[in-house]
Amino acid sequence: MLFKSRRDKRQTFISREGLRSDSDNGAYVAFVEQTLTDHSLFHHFKKSPVYQQILEHTTEEQGRQYLALICEQAPHFLDLLDRFAVNDLVGGANVIQFNDRCRISPSTLRYAKVASDLHSLFGTSLEGGHVAEIGVGYGGQRLVLDQLYRFRSYDMYDLPPVLGLASKYLESHLLQSSYRTKTLNTHNGEKEYDLVISNYAFSELPAIVQRMYIEKVLQKAARGYLTMNSGRVDSVFSKGKMTLEEIQTLISNTRILEEKPCSAPGNYVLVWGSAGLD
Ligand SMILES: C[S@@+](CC[C@H](N)C(=O)[O-])C[C@H]1O[C@@H](n2cnc3c(N)ncnc32)[C@H](O)[C@@H]1O
Repeated sequence: MLFKSRRDKRQTFISREGLRSDSDNGAYVAFVEQTLTDHSLFHHFKKSPVYQQILEHTTEEQGRQYLALICEQAPHFLDLLDRFAVNDLVGGANVIQFNDRCRISPSTLRYAKVASDLHSLFGTSLEGGHVAEIGVGYGGQRLVLDQLYRFRSYDMYDLPPVLGLASKYLESHLLQSSYRTKTLNTHNGEKEYDLVISNYAFSELPAIVQRMYIEKVLQKAARGYLTMNSGRVDSVFSKGKMTLEEIQTLISNTRILEEKPCSAPGNYVLVWGSAGLD
């Protein structure tokens, strides 16, 4: 009975039509709402097919590729994998024995790879910084980054029920720094961030919502790291999204990196800012 929502086809939408991201598909939010009240479902939510349509679908092969990239660009991260694997203790993660030293889920390896990219790009300049993450899922990236940095603040932007799940998830762990949950509408746009992160999330929003995030959050951030699956003609999610050119006219000095490993055609990582002091 764990995955009842799959059969009862319940649908919940947060935003009105025209303002919905590709993940706000009815079934996803309905499932997330269920995890808030059904404790046994919460303990296995990462295994749900409805949930895996949106998140937690990284394959074992992709996991191997993330591990190889981490070895290449941040070998000292290998000693931290045990700490990152704290992200697999709750929610029924798909844990795999990759080698003698590494028992971890492919999804946690993806969060670790993003952490190693951030470390390579921005170094220790992030320590003590103010961070925003747009589209946080269950908070896995937040938990992995907590093993590395003590941020002064970390604002998590998502839909209200999804933020409820992320809070429930993070409250079942122990963080060394902190987090706050926010929606775009509850944010007045005045805060200056040292870094904004968004993986497969800002890029899945309709253009009108993307423009508001740019105005209120992205343009206020000294550094950015966005894994994008829209914006190019060959990107999978491009319908109704801003083009890459349009985004680049609104955010100064962006650079485009390949997504490694490339998880879908037309994906890329949009980055700005440096490792130095602002
Ligand atoms: C494909 S998931 C990616 C989640 C996470 N970044 C990861 O890499 O695992 C897309 C995320 O965008 C979130 N999302 C949907 N609409 C949103 C909105 N209006 N503002 C912020 N996040 C939103 C979804 O709830 C989900 O957490």
